[in-house]
Amino acid sequence: MIIVGGPASNGIDEAISKILRADLIKAESKVFPDGESYIRYPRPLGNEEVVIVQSTYYPQDKHLIELFLMAETAKDMGASKVTAVVPYMAYLRQDRRFKDGEALSVKTVLGILSHVGCDSLVVVEPHHPEALKYFKGEVKLVDPIPALAREIKKEVEDPFVLAPDRGALSRAERLAKELGSPFSYVEKERDRTTGEVRIKELPQGNLSGKDVVLIDDIISTGGTMELASKVSYKLGARKVIAAAAHALLVNNALDRLKKAGVKDIISTNSVNVQGDVKVVDISELIAVRL
Ligand code: R5P
Repeated sequence: MIIVGGPASNGIDEAISKILRADLIKAESKVFPDGESYIRYPRPLGNEEVVIVQSTYYPQDKHLIELFLMAETAKDMGASKVTAVVPYMAYLRQDRRFKDGEALSVKTVLGILSHVGCDSLVVVEPHHPEALKYFKGEVKLVDPIPALAREIKKEVEDPFVLAPDRGALSRAERLAKELGSPFSYVEKERDRTTGEVRIKELPQGNLSGKDVVLIDDIISTGGTMELASKVSYKLGARKVIAAAAHALLVNNALDRLKKAGVKDIISTNSVNVQGDVKVVDISELIAVRL
């Protein structure tokens, strides 16, 4: 097995290669003056299993193109099997046509990934695992919740796990099991045009005096967590911390969360997290799936 580190591998490629004692090669990359992406393998690939590590955080489209180029080239060069390790898989949230005429982006992206020769796909905490049906090969999921829970335990005394929307309820349940705590969810509603979120339904359960742990797959603008944090304090929470598999933290998300009283943010290294966030390394969890 050969590990290939793509331009957006975030150090996970090196960690996996050490854990598995497998050779690591770094794909060469550059951007042409007109903005197109270039990829080259610095040495031949034989009839080997190639594991390409490439996350697809911002700029997502560029990182996806690089992944497509690496995968097809590996197959063209003779790889017997190509596995794509994509710790953060972009576009998974557009898994429905919320409005008529919208692109079903997840179908397009995973369709291309299948087409360029990826036999196997490893993804950390996808938005909805069912959306991965659009990938034609084998899919392996990595659950970061137990690793996040170990870090969360250091920060809380009397936890209450809260999903900031109904879609995250199964995550809240998994985390609550790790922490031995109660759990519930807030129901939010998003304006599909402006992206603004508002509370539709308050959580069940007693949050008074609790250390509320918000858990979601993604923190993007922070709007979802901001709302859930404010609700938690209104319902008597002692403190609020936020955990997510993928801390994209776009725009001023960190400020927004701090202003909403979020004391700590805990995430994984599936993306290149910027700012004051506790980052849990998930390389080992990925390595055991290979
Ligand atoms: C959507 O349902 C996801 O699970 C997240 O709740 C959402 O992507 C977070 O986005 P934001 O941080 O912009 O509210």
